[in-house]
Amino acid sequence: MMRVISAARLVTCDDELGTVEDAALVVGADGRIAWIGAHAALPAPFRDAPAPRDQAPLVTPGLIDAHTHAVWAGSRHAEYAVRMAGGDYVAIANAGGGIVSTHKAVAEASEHDLVDSLGARLRRMAALGVTTVEVKSGYGLTPELELKQLRAIASAASRTDLPRVVPTFLALHALPPGCADAERHVEQMCGLVAEVAARKLARFVDAYVDEHAFSVAQARKLGEAAAKAGLGVRLHVGQFSDVGGAELAAELGAKSADHLEHLGEGGARAMARARVAAGLLPTAAFTLGQKPPDVAMLRRAGVAMVVASDSNPGTAPTESLPLAMAIGVRSFGLTPQEALLGVTRHAAGSLDLSGGGVLRVGAPADLVLWDLPHEIALVQPWGTPRARLVLRDGAAIGH
Ligand code: NIG
Ligand code: FE
Repeated sequence: MMRVISAARLVTCDDELGTVEDAALVVGADGRIAWIGAHAALPAPFRDAPAPRDQAPLVTPGLIDAHTHAVWAGSRHAEYAVRMAGGDYVAIANAGGGIVSTHKAVAEASEHDLVDSLGARLRRMAALGVTTVEVKSGYGLTPELELKQLRAIASAASRTDLPRVVPTFLALHALPPGCADAERHVEQMCGLVAEVAARKLARFVDAYVDEHAFSVAQARKLGEAAAKAGLGVRLHVGQFSDVGGAELAAELGAKSADHLEHLGEGGARAMARARVAAGLLPTAAFTLGQKPPDVAMLRRAGVAMVVASDSNPGTAPTESLPLAMAIGVRSFGLTPQEALLGVTRHAAGSLDLSGGGVLRVGAPADLVLWDLPHEIALVQPWGTPRARLVLRDGAAIGH
């Protein structure tokens, strides 16, 4: 159905911010953007068409959350209290909390429950203005349970009333309980990549590269398996220490390296050369009480910066990408404009979504009508949803 939208201010995110005052945007019957420009220049066939009309103070592209662990079960509230009282994340994980405790809850949950809770989370994300969500597996830890998570993601991905879903096989996240042979685990997970790709259950693989997680050599094996299977690579890098994950991301041609609280100048330069995006996760750093990544260094190196929620039951217990933007500006020192580009054009680039993250004629009509006066105001109403209407392919989602 055709739809004509008027906006006091429209931000295309194409060609820097690309703002248009007193704008109009026409969504074609095919769910793509048919026209954008000054309202006064709206061609007569659109102006006079018997189509629904919407208007808002501000219109932007739909937000893209390029790093989430949104498929999970259980609750980690007890661990949260321990951590807030000074408990250390790695010590909690070593005591059976953290990723492994969610693994147990995922093992006990039915696939149907995983699909249901993921669908509910995605709907709430849409209500906040999010039209695309990358969702990682990674709490399965065994082939059978990773496939269960990936099937749950595929089920949510088939729904058009939720945000678009980009599935990632987080193959190396933690060792399953009782597994003492890390090399064997790596072999087993690398061995699953071809099947995951053949069944189209993921577009990317991911590995948690850190001192207490997986090594550069282990993640390299996964990256090689991904290349053979035609899958892209994203990596968790430098969350607790710099073990060379950024250089590996560059070597593997990864689309993004995320976290980066611990990153050297050489790593940043390697990422820039190989066009690896930096996935900044402000809500995780906030929960863990960490020093922010060196944003000035990333800027200097010319690395594209993405902002994502890291939505997960442990380190980023939020579903809110606008909250991640707000903390990104307040604590990481991003400008509001950088935060917006980090959840639109740059996020789309890191997910290989051609035509995504920008408002442009011919692109899918994924956009948000905001009850806010200006794009800077997106990082102000902390925690309160202010999306008036959220469109994916021109149809309303998130209600
Ligand atoms: O991105 N660092 C590893 N993975 C997640 C945490 C997952 C969890 O604690 O459940 C992260 O922060
Ligand atoms: Fe993560």
